[in-house]
Amino acid sequence: MTYHDALAQLGILHAHPGGEPLTAWWMGRVSMPEHARILDVGCGNGATACFMAQRWNADVTVLDVRKQMVDHALRLAAERNLRLRGVVGSAEAMPFQRESFHAIVSESVLVFTKPNRALREYRRVIEEQGVVIAIEMMTLGPVTDAWRREVRQLYGAQFVPDLSGWKRLFYDAGFDVKVLRSGSVSSLPLPVNQQEPTLADPKALLDPQIRTVLQQNAQWMEKHGKEMGYGVFELRCAIT
Ligand SMILES: C[S@@+](CC[C@H](N)C(=O)[O-])C[C@H]1O[C@@H](n2cnc3c(N)ncnc32)[C@H](O)[C@@H]1O
Repeated sequence: MTYHDALAQLGILHAHPGGEPLTAWWMGRVSMPEHARILDVGCGNGATACFMAQRWNADVTVLDVRKQMVDHALRLAAERNLRLRGVVGSAEAMPFQRESFHAIVSESVLVFTKPNRALREYRRVIEEQGVVIAIEMMTLGPVTDAWRREVRQLYGAQFVPDLSGWKRLFYDAGFDVKVLRSGSVSSLPLPVNQQEPTLADPKALLDPQIRTVLQQNAQWMEKHGKEMGYGVFELRCAIT
């Protein structure tokens, strides 16, 4: 049972640092044309995609490597009388034409991918005038190999860069970056480990494996929350 298996089975919404409040925060700072074509990469259970469809009347496509996540997102949209387009696929090889989207939203996804490949894909499918919003975890100072090993084992995060590491990855993929906000995960008003989960399947909470994953997450965040940072990044295509 991985962290993402647990997220999928519990149907936890806004499973990224800062949760729903941080999503509402960046959405309040980004203007989007009506009916914009938006891609939510690594959509999870679809809460942000639904927000965007509702708030901007946007034409939202959700993509996730896990079919269960895409199914949940489509179900959430149907419950809210919204329409999303669902695609099961990987951020590193997306089944879309060049410049298919005006905006890409990627909330706590890149650390689970090969980020250089995924970012090249973001650059390929975004319009030249488009915008990418990414919320990502980052290290705030030096961390030990044991810290990195635990993050890999617990969360499946391949590599967590620091701020300059993220900036390098963004520039290398052809983006200019503006850091909209950054800080320690534990400084956020509602850290992800304290959110009230929204359950797709309430029985899932009784599953001992899921309980173990949740407990490990809470313990790790309690111990290391101060070292784990987050950034909200706005990426624009660099002029070449
Ligand atoms: C921490 S969750 C965040 C989900 C959602 N963005 C949110 O904020 O609630 C990470 C999501 O990325 C998805 N994911 C992981 N690796 C991926 C990949 N290579 N391509 C697409 N999605 C991926 C996972 O299945 C999961 O839904």
